[in-house]
Amino acid sequence: MYMSYYRDNILKIKLIDFKGENMKKIHLGSSNIEVSAVAVGCMRMSGLTVKEAESYILSCMEQGLNFFDHADIYGGGQCEEIFGQVLAQNPGLREKMFLQSKCGIIPGKMYDLSKKHILESVEGSLKRLQIDHLDMLLLHRPDALMEPEEVAEAFDTLQSQGKVKHFGVSNQNPMQMKLLQKYMKQPILVNQLQFSVPVSNMVSVGMEVNMNTDGAINRDGSVLDYCRLNDITIQAWSPFQKPNWGGLFLDSEDYAELNKVLEEIAANYDVTTTTIATAWILRHPANMQVIAGSMKTSRMTEIAKAADIKLTREEWYKIYLSAGHLLP
Ligand SMILES: NC(=O)c1ccc[n+]([C@@H]2O[C@H](COP(=O)([O-])OP(=O)(O)OC[C@H]3O[C@@H](n4cnc5c(N)ncnc54)[C@H](OP(=O)(O)O)[C@@H]3O)[C@@H](O)[C@H]2O)c1
Repeated sequence: MYMSYYRDNILKIKLIDFKGENMKKIHLGSSNIEVSAVAVGCMRMSGLTVKEAESYILSCMEQGLNFFDHADIYGGGQCEEIFGQVLAQNPGLREKMFLQSKCGIIPGKMYDLSKKHILESVEGSLKRLQIDHLDMLLLHRPDALMEPEEVAEAFDTLQSQGKVKHFGVSNQNPMQMKLLQKYMKQPILVNQLQFSVPVSNMVSVGMEVNMNTDGAINRDGSVLDYCRLNDITIQAWSPFQKPNWGGLFLDSEDYAELNKVLEEIAANYDVTTTTIATAWILRHPANMQVIAGSMKTSRMTEIAKAADIKLTREEWYKIYLSAGHLLP
């Protein structure tokens, strides 16, 4: 019993000394906030016990992964709740991390970016996470009935109450961000979008300009260029998933050529294909942040290793082409 008490507390003491210098850092949008280039997505945390979540979170922090992404709806609120219990049991831990959550989805029913819903959602997240403020709040998805003035009012209220420090969006196109920004006092710092080797319309559209090809179809209003022009950090969600919730592309027969190339390059660097698929996103000059959702400590170590690898131009394009994309 004492052994486990000391082991647990030694882990906590080590954490207090931890500075995470080795992990690659990025600046969030136009701010001077520095966070880890790889972030921890907590959408699947409801599959862990509080004890398992504690060991997972502490291990992520030890590896320099100090950015955690939540949403009010993940696990029906359970993901934030489990995370909150870990924070409550580890005094001092919260100040060492950057906590982001999202609001605006009522699953299966509607999107709701009304002032009332935004304020209520944040209250719920703070309560479940057992904290007094979020470092960042994102609007999870665009709401067709959104009144941008109301969103701006909600953000002002939350910021003046000290409940949310910074704001961003998710799954929004440039015009939607422009509309919001017209009313918001705070800058939009991030836009969270799906991006991975197979789901890379954002880059295809910039290379197949004006062609009669699928990759030329501009589905997002040139969001990549807009974000770069306006200093908005793109957070890449589901970095290892196929399009349309089709499951993992790593080791999938649907992406045999991609996996072959990833294996070849991984062997050269003596890492796994997971590391190389992450390094592919980090290599893009937009300085994206990868939001990885594995709940396995060993996997997060593989993912974190990507921050030490800078793929060559030849490797980056070889991976891109092996996923079936074109170079016209
Ligand atoms: N803004 C949005 O609309 C939106 C939408 C979806 C997600 N997100 C955010 O993005 C985060 C990541 O999403 P995600 O979990 O779908 O992305 P992901 O990191 O692509 O996938 C993680 C899942 O893949 C499994 N996996 C199996 N083999 C793997 C391997 N070799 N390498 C990596 N993962 C492997 C993991 O299992 P193990 O746990 O067993 O490793 C885990 O279940 C979420 O947690 C959430 O924060 C945002």
